[in-house]
Amino acid sequence: MIDTLKLASGHKMPMLGLGTWMLTGRQCEESVKAAIEYGYTHIDTAELYGNHREVGKAIKGHDRSKLFITSKLWRTDLTYRDALKACDRSLKELGTDYIDLYLIHWPNDKLPIKDTMRAFKYLIDEEKVRSVGLSNFDETRINDAMKFSKVPLSTNQVEFHPHLYQRKLLQYCNKRGISMTAYCPLARGEVLHDPVVRDIAEKNGKVPAQVCLRWLVQHGIVVIPKSTNPDHIKSNMDIFDWKLTDQEMTRIDGIGTYERQVNPAFKDIPLIGPIPKPIFSRIPNFVKRRYTKNGKFFSDG
Ligand SMILES: NC(=O)c1ccc[n+]([C@@H]2O[C@H](COP(=O)([O-])OP(=O)(O)OC[C@H]3O[C@@H](n4cnc5c(N)ncnc54)[C@H](OP(=O)(O)O)[C@@H]3O)[C@@H](O)[C@H]2O)c1
Repeated sequence: MIDTLKLASGHKMPMLGLGTWMLTGRQCEESVKAAIEYGYTHIDTAELYGNHREVGKAIKGHDRSKLFITSKLWRTDLTYRDALKACDRSLKELGTDYIDLYLIHWPNDKLPIKDTMRAFKYLIDEEKVRSVGLSNFDETRINDAMKFSKVPLSTNQVEFHPHLYQRKLLQYCNKRGISMTAYCPLARGEVLHDPVVRDIAEKNGKVPAQVCLRWLVQHGIVVIPKSTNPDHIKSNMDIFDWKLTDQEMTRIDGIGTYERQVNPAFKDIPLIGPIPKPIFSRIPNFVKRRYTKNGKFFSDG
């Protein structure tokens, strides 16, 4: 059984979802289908990922009311009109009447957040979207968004894993009634070699990925690991009927490594921690073309 979290909007969000960044074509469709078959109900996508159609195909025929679809509005579409158009596009591509959770993918200080918040209210009133939220927002920008929002902001999706323990941001979101969703919950595999994580996994008869995901959900954080491997998809679900001890939680809290995986090409938003190597070469060409301006790619997840 996958635990759920009650959002500020009043809707319930499954605490585990399947991430789909870099999943396209048949691989995307098959991974999403496998996840649903195993019992996942929550899928995380975004217009940027270029896979709405594949996600749409995979969810077709399933009881929509039992699924939870998160999608994201790209940061160049934050004006009122563009946000409404982007949402309609996403609904069409996904083949659904509503999106469960619609997030601003990355902040953009050049476009007025007031307009985006007005668009979010409209989308909720029109029942095109059930809950709204943010992604990659720091405390100042969360505060700005909250000032203008007439509807509750339900989550802030940020990079979060044992090698990037964003304790202060978590406390701030908790205080403001905003849940947190961890993207890159496995640090794209990097954290699976951590000696503390491996030791705790061995002692609990679990694998390192389960320990990372359990650490996050035990902190009250929703996790959206991506996998194309059916065994991993299945084993990532085994995080809800056991617990880490307080001591184990404290050990992981104290790992002290502060390494970010995601490093977007746009540089107008401050990031925390060292800058990792670019992943441009691993992005499929059709996604590059879609989100490339003046020869420069401008996102990373
Ligand atoms: N809002 C944002 O700006 C943003 C940014 C980045 C990502 N995201 C979202 O967050 C999701 C997750 O992040 P991510 O995909 O970047 O990284 P991630 O989930 O931390 O890592 C994915 C990697 O972990 C491996 N993996 C998964 N389960 C495993 C297991 N049990 N054992 C060993 N390896 C395992 C996968 O390989 P296999 O396929 O072999 O299992 C894959 O290579 C994305 O897919 C996307 O939906 C959002």
